[in-house]
Amino acid sequence: MKQALENIKASALNALESCQDVKELEALRVKYLGKKGDLTAILKQMGGLSADERPLIGQIANNVRTAIENAITAQSDKIKVFMLEKSLQNEQIDVTLPGKSQPVGKLHPLNIVLNEVKDIFLGMGFDIAEGPEVEFDYYNFEALNLPPDHPARDTQDTFYITENILLRTQTSPVQVRVMEKQKPPIRIICPGRVFRSDAVDATHSPLFHQIEGLVVDKGITMADLKGTLELLMKRLYGDEAKIRLRPHHFPFTEPSAEVDVMCFNCHGSGCKVCKGEGYIELLGAGMVHPKVLSNCGIDPEVYSGFAFGLGLERIVMRRYGITDMRLLFENDLRFLNQF
Ligand code: DAH
Repeated sequence: MKQALENIKASALNALESCQDVKELEALRVKYLGKKGDLTAILKQMGGLSADERPLIGQIANNVRTAIENAITAQSDKIKVFMLEKSLQNEQIDVTLPGKSQPVGKLHPLNIVLNEVKDIFLGMGFDIAEGPEVEFDYYNFEALNLPPDHPARDTQDTFYITENILLRTQTSPVQVRVMEKQKPPIRIICPGRVFRSDAVDATHSPLFHQIEGLVVDKGITMADLKGTLELLMKRLYGDEAKIRLRPHHFPFTEPSAEVDVMCFNCHGSGCKVCKGEGYIELLGAGMVHPKVLSNCGIDPEVYSGFAFGLGLERIVMRRYGITDMRLLFENDLRFLNQF
């Protein structure tokens, strides 16, 4: 009997290893571990054993069952990762397809402002790009000049699906996906959901939205970046809106800047809304790092580019004077109907 059990184990592990399909995996589970399965069939013969033999064979049978169960779980994980990787590899979005029709009735404030931002950029000749929310570590970090041990990863802790697949922490990976496929001139924005393992409070949420921007061509300079963002802010907040660029560091841009907009409440003199600063921080930006360009097969000696990433919630909150981000996600109609 001991040999019969070992044979079942060997045969099951062998069959499981080559199984590539979830349904097939379930069929194997039934075949080996089911009520009418191979293991049960053997155990039914245990009645014929002596009292001495029974515990030993019982122990072996339990071990065989555990080994097969573990192998099923491991193979199931393998199949899932394989399917996920395959679907990410084939990720393709046809931006020429017509957009979804607008729902009837009111729009969520996030959508109202997003539509405005899209219109502003479409007017400047930008295209709208998209990328997956479940992303490879390579696109989210590595290709953006954030190697595995880079300390800047700590500020963007996220939800990992496997060691190499995660929920994207920023929309910046779409820059890489676009540059890999498309050669300059490139002018895109990419709005989308991003994820971080942050606790919920008035200014943090584990899910929020960013709008990424990327322009790559010959002779692009920081002046193009400033002009583009100034126009965006004037369209969003009125012609008197002013921006300023402060030096900062992002691994994927050089030089990098944080962009502030003059406080709409006090016009620069400092008040409660801007915490006495006169300016309110709105986004990160910079000139695309030469390493990022060459990671994507674009020659940094020939081309240059600028990029920026803005937080949609932050713009919406400034726009409507909303002080608690949670209101945007709770979907309380008493709140939403005000827009
Ligand atoms: N991805 C950055 C973040 O989430 C924001 C950002 C900064 C995007 C600079 C950019 C950029 O494209 O150039 O913190």
